[in-house]
Amino acid sequence: MSALTQMKEAPVATPIDRLLTATGEDMAKVNALILSRADSHVEMVPELARYLIESGGKRLRPMLTVAAAQLFGKGTGTAINFAAAVEFMHNATLLHDDVVDESDMRRGKPAARMVWGNKASILVGDFLLGQAFMMMVETGDIASLGVLSAASAVMAEGEVFQLAKTGDLTTTPADYAEVIRAKTAVLFEAACKVGAMSGGADEAGALALARYGLELGNAFQLVDDSLDYGGQSGTLGKNTGDDLREGKMTLPVILALAEGSADEREIISSALGDAEASDEQVAAVVAIMERHKTLERTLDQAHAHARAAQQALDALPASEMRSLLNDVVEFSVLRAY
Ligand code: IPE
Ligand code: IPE
Ligand code: MG
Ligand code: MG
Repeated sequence: MSALTQMKEAPVATPIDRLLTATGEDMAKVNALILSRADSHVEMVPELARYLIESGGKRLRPMLTVAAAQLFGKGTGTAINFAAAVEFMHNATLLHDDVVDESDMRRGKPAARMVWGNKASILVGDFLLGQAFMMMVETGDIASLGVLSAASAVMAEGEVFQLAKTGDLTTTPADYAEVIRAKTAVLFEAACKVGAMSGGADEAGALALARYGLELGNAFQLVDDSLDYGGQSGTLGKNTGDDLREGKMTLPVILALAEGSADEREIISSALGDAEASDEQVAAVVAIMERHKTLERTLDQAHAHARAAQQALDALPASEMRSLLNDVVEFSVLRAY
């Protein structure tokens, strides 16, 4: 390899790395707060909570809260509490979600429920949610508390709606859009909006960031749902093929059912919701998806939402943080490839 090629291939900081650097000081405070609020005199609480928290996770949502506050410039005092609360809400949902989805792996390790059981996972999830609300109340910012409380209710509704649609072959793309908006995008929306509000944004600024978060969240879940059929479980930190075996009605499967032949529909529906479906069955379903380009079109939709997220930023004055938030969108969607 020539010296020139080597130079060209030198690792370039990804937008996420740049976001980590830009928010590093604040995120150190957020992480300290997260750890201290995961504490309890009941030993199982910090044991289980720290197991999940310390196994990493991208911390994307709290970083967005802190970044949104920095974008508008006015200190990041209350944003620290909101960022920690947002990550607690997210982690509580993950603990509950893995019980509901009967998932075995999370963040590259056995899911907490595999170590402590379903009951403890649900209860510690509830503890984290309670702690999240405590941190929000301490800010005294009722408007932001309202944004995140509403998000918390909508997320639970979204998971229930998804549960109600499990294995339902009549699920439409519109139903799916509602599920991902509620279970995922609304938390990204709230994370960005309360960050902007903490940073002193005016109404238009807070709305722009809310829109940015909502569209980024939609794109993020669309990518996640396509990766479940095409990603590498090692990179993802969770098992692939689970959505099919769980009967989860995500866009790649909804489109394949709508457009497949009677034989193809039969292959899909016999594997859908069958926890014992073989890898060969999953592969046969993926082949049908490839034939009808449903994974590709799922990613196209993710790109459309990603562009909408970037467009939401256009209304704001140009700055380094604005361009960083712009690039983060691209990176989050590109994890599909
Ligand atoms: C997982 O979210 C749940 C989805 C919305 C797909 P992340 O991929 O942000 O999970 P962590 O926090 O990085 O583990
Ligand atoms: C997103 O749904 C989870 C939450 C909103 C908690 P998924 O069930 O698709 O997420 P993963 O695949 O378990 O991370
Ligand atoms: Mg899940
Ligand atoms: Mg789920």
